[in-house]
Amino acid sequence: MTPEDQSKEMQVSGTQHELVISEERLAERLARLAEIGLRDDGALQRLPYSPEDRAAQDLLTTWLEAAGLTVWVDPAGNVFGRLEGTDPEAPAVLTGSHLDTQPGGGRFDGVAGVLASLEALEAMREAGLRPRAAIELVSWAGEEGGGCFDVGVIGSRAMVGALTEQHLDLRCRHRGRTLRELMRECGLDVDRLGEAERPEGSLAAVVELHIEQGPLLEEAGIQVGVVTAIAGNRRVPLTLRGRQAHSGGMPMAYRHDALTGVAELVLAAEAIATAKTDPPVVATSGFLQHAPREIAMIPGRADLTLDVRCIAQDALEAAVAEIQQAARDIAERRGLELELRDPWGTNPSPTDPAIVAVLRAACDALGISATAMPSGASHDSMVLATRFPAGMLFVPSAGGISHAPEEFTETADLAAGARVLARALTVLSA
Ligand code: GLV
Ligand code: MN
Ligand code: MN
Repeated sequence: MTPEDQSKEMQVSGTQHELVISEERLAERLARLAEIGLRDDGALQRLPYSPEDRAAQDLLTTWLEAAGLTVWVDPAGNVFGRLEGTDPEAPAVLTGSHLDTQPGGGRFDGVAGVLASLEALEAMREAGLRPRAAIELVSWAGEEGGGCFDVGVIGSRAMVGALTEQHLDLRCRHRGRTLRELMRECGLDVDRLGEAERPEGSLAAVVELHIEQGPLLEEAGIQVGVVTAIAGNRRVPLTLRGRQAHSGGMPMAYRHDALTGVAELVLAAEAIATAKTDPPVVATSGFLQHAPREIAMIPGRADLTLDVRCIAQDALEAAVAEIQQAARDIAERRGLELELRDPWGTNPSPTDPAIVAVLRAACDALGISATAMPSGASHDSMVLATRFPAGMLFVPSAGGISHAPEEFTETADLAAGARVLARALTVLSA
């Protein structure tokens, strides 16, 4: 922390500003949002740019307005609520997360950060605290990737001018329409997307609270994780072609089974990632299809898109290369034809050390236990970090479960995170 930051910290540690987070209000709003897009199986489904997603954003808008914030929606569908500062020239501080979900996700991924940000702003307002720099709350549009468009973090890409025509042409797997079409159906003017961009220097800091989506905080009994780096991802698409044949007639030694080939690759990718521990690499084979899908047929084709993630760029690229080589070896040995297509993804990004220090200091001042940790999951902050100083804090996920209906965080844990966020925002906007 710089001496300047330390003096800001001392100013806000004075007794005149006690920031009170309402656990009751947090729990009530969580419950309200958990009703929107609730499926029969208990999962939440608010796909990016869907009517359910817009309904959640609309409900949030009513809360932002009731909190006395200036509210608007940018052409990418990002919802903002702004608490004005005393210095209109000062670059704003941005805080928030997202309300959209995976196809069948949980109640806390994204929502936790949006509601904690709102609590932080309400607490500041209720304490009569007027920041020097404005603080903007954002609820990002289209954060969730993989489920619909292969890419996510759409609203934040627009803010850094990185949302391309190719992104807009991507077709949603679940709705058959392009991102451009779905945005238009939400009433957004796609031709004005450029207006969502913010120039370098226009934001002093970006801070996002999120659930951990892993088991480490809970296991260690620590309340807050201060994120030091956000993992990048590579989506690695490939197709294996073998020979479709009769499941009874074809002896085992004569087969070219695309499914058993891809099965071997799934396990090879798992072994490759498991062996890489410093820094750790994860590899997931969640998108896998084979054809034909018949009991009496040997599958002639298998399509797999791996999701490989790591906080270090070189280790990420090396793991991808190793998995692709394993695919070549398996295909050759099994007499399969391999089509390797170009991987895509987002690069790893470190968080800003000054923001990390402010978050750590806020935890210390509040007596909230904290540890430094990387983020394995992707977040809008990863995209924003390419242009603005960005930081994140995590609160525990019960059992480490996320992207699942069982996703759960204790309200008390979320409130503790919101307290840290509120205090950090006070420092960053002073
Ligand atoms: C988003 O939740 C991601 O990490 O894929
Ligand atoms: Mn999320
Ligand atoms: Mn998610």
